[in-house]
Parts: sequence; C-alpha cells; structure tokens
Amino acid sequence: MRIAVIIPTYNEAGAIGALFDEMAGVFAEAPQHEWYVVIVDANSPDGTADIVRAKMLQYPNIRLIVETGKRGIAPAYVTGMRYALEELHADAFVEFDGDGQHDPKDIIRLIEVLDSGHEYAIGSRYVAGGGIPKEWATYRKILSRFGSLYARLLLDLPVYDATSGLKATRASAAKYLPLGEGELLSKQYAYKLQFLYALTRAGVSIKEIPIVFRIREHDISKSAWYDIVESLRLTLLMRLQTLYEWRFLRVVGVGLFGFICQTLIFGILGVRLGIIRPSNAILIGGEFAILSNFFLNERFSFGDRQKSFPFVQRIARFHLVSLGSIVIQWVLVRTAEFVAPANHPLLWAAYIAGLALGLLSNYTGYYFWVWQK
Ligand code: GDD
Ligand code: MN
Repeated sequence: MRIAVIIPTYNEAGAIGALFDEMAGVFAEAPQHEWYVVIVDANSPDGTADIVRAKMLQYPNIRLIVETGKRGIAPAYVTGMRYALEELHADAFVEFDGDGQHDPKDIIRLIEVLDSGHEYAIGSRYVAGGGIPKEWATYRKILSRFGSLYARLLLDLPVYDATSGLKATRASAAKYLPLGEGELLSKQYAYKLQFLYALTRAGVSIKEIPIVFRIREHDISKSAWYDIVESLRLTLLMRLQTLYEWRFLRVVGVGLFGFICQTLIFGILGVRLGIIRPSNAILIGGEFAILSNFFLNERFSFGDRQKSFPFVQRIARFHLVSLGSIVIQWVLVRTAEFVAPANHPLLWAAYIAGLALGLLSNYTGYYFWVWQK
C-alpha cells in the first residue's frame, strides 16, 4: 500500500524533529509499504516548518504544506487528506498528532487492521489494553469517557473511543468523508465525530485496537472546554439532522403503539363491550403490547443487528427486559405510596418517572442483551 501519515502542526518545533527519526525506524520495519509523511503546518511562529524543511533533506518522503495561519485542526486534516488522495494517490492515510502523544509504532498495527480487510482502524484508549495518561486529573478522565459514551449512544457509534486522534482510513472509504468545500461542521477536534459518524452511516467496516495515549506537558486548557461544548453541540446537530434514523426514537414509537393497543384492548374489549373481564383484558393487552413491541423492534429498531441468539431466546429475553421495567415502575409508585398521601401529585410524578426509567431500562436491555452485537 501507499500510505500517507498526515500530521497537522501548530508550534511543534520541540517535538517534530525527533518524531521523524522515530517514524523512519518504524517505516523500515514495514518496507512492503510505500510511506509518506504529510505535514500541514499552520505557519507556526516557532519555526516548525523550518525544522521540517531541514528534515526533508534527510528524508525525501516528507511533504510540507504551510497554511496561511492557524485555521483549526479540522481544515488542516482535510488539506492533508486531499493532498494524500489527489497528489500522492495514497491507498490509505493515517491521522497522527505531532506533539508526541501518539506512538509511531501504533501506525503499523493500524495498517495491519486495514490489511486484514477493514476500511477504518481506530487507535482506541477505551478498549482493553488501551489507556490515557494516569497523570490526568480525575475530572478530565471522567469528561473524556463521558463524552465518548454520550456520542456513542446518541449517534449509535460502534466504537468506545469516538474522539481518538489516531486512526487509519482506506482511500476507498474516503469518498464518504466531508472533504469538500464547506462540508465541515467544526473547525476543531469535534470534526472527528463528524468523520466517524459519516463512515458509520456508510456502513464502512470499522475496527478499534488499543493504544496508550502518552502524557504531554500542557494540560486541559480553555480551548479544551471549548472543544467539549463543541462536541456536545455537533453530536446534537448531527442527531437532529438524522432524527428519523434514531434507533431510540423508533423504540419510543414502537412502545407508544403497544401502549395504545393495550389501552384499546382494555377500553373496548374489556370495559365497553365486556367481552373480556377488565382485569383479564389488562393481561391480554399487556402481552399483546409486549409481543407487538418485540416483533416491531426486531424488524424496525434493531433490524440492522445480526441475531446472536435463536428466536425463542430472544423473545424470552425480551419478556425479562419488559418485566424489569414493570418492576421499576412498580417500585417507584410503591415508594410514592409510602411517602405521599392518597391522591397526591407525587404519585403521578412517580408514574412518569417510572415510565421514563422503564423506557431507558428497556432500551438498554434491547441494545446490549436482546439484540446485542
Ligand atoms: N495545522 C494545524 N492547525 N495544526 C493544529 C491546529 C491548527 O489549528 N491545532 C492543533 N494542531 C495540531 C497540533 O500541533 C498537534 O500536532 C495536533 O494538531 C493535535 O493537537 P493537540 O493540541 O496535541 O491535541 P490534544 O492533545 O488536545 O487532542 C488530542 O486528543 C484528542 C482526544 O483526547 C488529539 O488527538 C485530538 O484529535 C483528540 O480528539
Ligand atoms: Mn496532544
């Protein structure tokens, strides 16, 4: 393969020189590939580009693009990717930080993932064997993990580390990336989420492998807070743009349908026509709702998932999950009964809270247990 390692730089004069030497050693270990390094420098005032130019005399596979100024990491990467695809005709490119936080040896492991047939390989800090600097403050660790989980659940991303900065992409998948004029939703780090989401929706084969993120002197800064807000915003924006594709919303719709059916069976067959005793109508309607929920969710909400268990087991698991949410609702209302007098609004609050919690527990159960990946 012809591979371009793309490194955006802003004031990395202190780190970049040693990085080239380290990379040369790594590339030598995989001579079957044709290696390039593409530096996209934000016209760094510390003279990063001069160091790169000096190194280019030693390593002819380095390419240097100097931007007009600091435009943000996202447009820098887009420039590097387009250069890799259009000028170098690369078969794959790697996103790599120029500050020494990524280990060049991981590049080889990412390329092996592409070689094994995947189109997108992510160096993940949150799978077994991966890690973040233990020096990081607790709140920063929590923020980073929570951010990934939030994006993962809301956008249904098939990965644990949604914002990792180290990844390899096959050129065949690049056509799904927003590399055109004005397509980027963020100029900052949140672009990673946009790229990952685009590839996920295109059905590209993605694999995560563990990496250990190294420590760097600078700690979380003002711009890091900006990045967090930016990532939350981008995640919501992309979710709204593709609301109809949202699995959770489909589960809610299906649940609503079941609820209406149960109410109709109780109200019409049970109360109005008196064909079934109302207390029996509740049970029959309830089971009807569970079954209709099962079949509709299996078809519409989780139709994309491969079935890990036989039919009987799926339907049994589904019943257990449903039972769990009924128990949750019962516990809440029962608790409210103890603390509030009869007819108190708290009972309604408990009912609503029970519905919401029950829905969440249902969704989690379906997602991880009934139709697990
Ligand atoms: N050309 C250019 N323009 N390069 C930039 C710019 C810019 O505006 N901003 C940052 N860079 C370069 C840096 O010089 C560095 O080589 C690389 O982009 C990553 O920037 P860092 O400042 O090291 O990012 P970080 O350590 O906060 O974030 C890393 O971890 C995040 C997840 O925790 C990156 O890997 C992110 O991509 C990742 O999301
Ligand atoms: Mn960094």
